[in-house]
Amino acid sequence: MDMKTQYLGLTLRNPLVASPSPLGRQIDTLKQIVDHGAGAVVLPSIFEEQIAREQEMVDALMGSGTESFGEALSYFPAETAYAFDSSGYIHLIEQAAKQLDVPVIASLNGTTTSGWIDYARDIEAAGAQAIELNIFFVPSDIASSGQDIEKRYLDVVSTVSQAVKLPVAVKIGPYFSSIGHMAGQLVEAGAKGLVLFNRFYEPDIDPVNLSVETSLELSRPMEMRLPLLWIGVLSGRIKASLAATTGVETADDAVKYLLAGADVIMTTSALLRYGPAHMQVLVDGLSDWLSARSIASPDDVRGKLSHAKVANPEAYERANYIKVLQGYEAD
Ligand SMILES: Cc1cc2nc3c(=O)[nH]c(=O)nc-3n(C[C@H](O)[C@H](O)[C@H](O)COP(=O)(O)O)c2cc1C
Repeated sequence: MDMKTQYLGLTLRNPLVASPSPLGRQIDTLKQIVDHGAGAVVLPSIFEEQIAREQEMVDALMGSGTESFGEALSYFPAETAYAFDSSGYIHLIEQAAKQLDVPVIASLNGTTTSGWIDYARDIEAAGAQAIELNIFFVPSDIASSGQDIEKRYLDVVSTVSQAVKLPVAVKIGPYFSSIGHMAGQLVEAGAKGLVLFNRFYEPDIDPVNLSVETSLELSRPMEMRLPLLWIGVLSGRIKASLAATTGVETADDAVKYLLAGADVIMTTSALLRYGPAHMQVLVDGLSDWLSARSIASPDDVRGKLSHAKVANPEAYERANYIKVLQGYEAD
């Protein structure tokens, strides 16, 4: 079965991609994921704060920026909070680009257009074939308007896209008033792909210790419904690749995203839960699903059930919600 797939202008042997996770921190685990069939890998993110913090330290050692140095140290989380320093990350990219025979996508996680953007050029020089830009922040300043927030996203995307020749995919969350309009704006700003959706970091409250707790839970397949909806609505309507992330645990989950219109289907929680060999289960399962229906390639079914192509597009809309509720009343 030929499952070749185009993503961000790159040719992948199949549409299954390992999304950023701690498994990507070591070259050995990355190799296992690739040996088990991944079409591409996205490395874990390096954070703007880490890059900026190191730059502050260099400036302080050089005798400039000393005043802001102390403030920066107290403002940014402790160094140990990060998986990488900036040179360690570049080293990982170099190793991965040399040793893996699939495209290696680096992940930058940032929210401003300040000096850290130069680091994108180092990523390019290290041999990454694309950059995934994860823009994540909680707009806790409640005076900021939706327009302000969107502008901030667009400024980051356009600054990073202009800094490198590599294709840039943008990983966003679902919290925009008009995701479709925002998607179009991101593409105009330079995004060659959209990754839907970032799972928002949501803190919990411990009622015993009266503290705000931080933890990152693995996903469940049910969570795929929201990205599935928006992949389905955007498919065929924007000039960019679409990557689905969240909730892919079985090959059927991957098939659903493909039918909705995803160019590639990403997975993290399932690999953390079942190990790198689970990638093979997904790749073989997708291939079996296509073969069993005599479908020659993923391209032949991609987007077949998208909003634009499905026979009953109202299934994606309000009308269907009302129908579902009526069904409950009848029971
Ligand atoms: C432990 C853990 C670490 C993650 N680290 C990153 C990261 O560094 N950068 C990033 O963009 N996403 C990161 N993610 C998000 C995943 O890449 C993925 O988008 C998300 O978990 C949804 O996919 P899933 O349902 O297959 O897990 C992480 C997720 C988990 C569970």
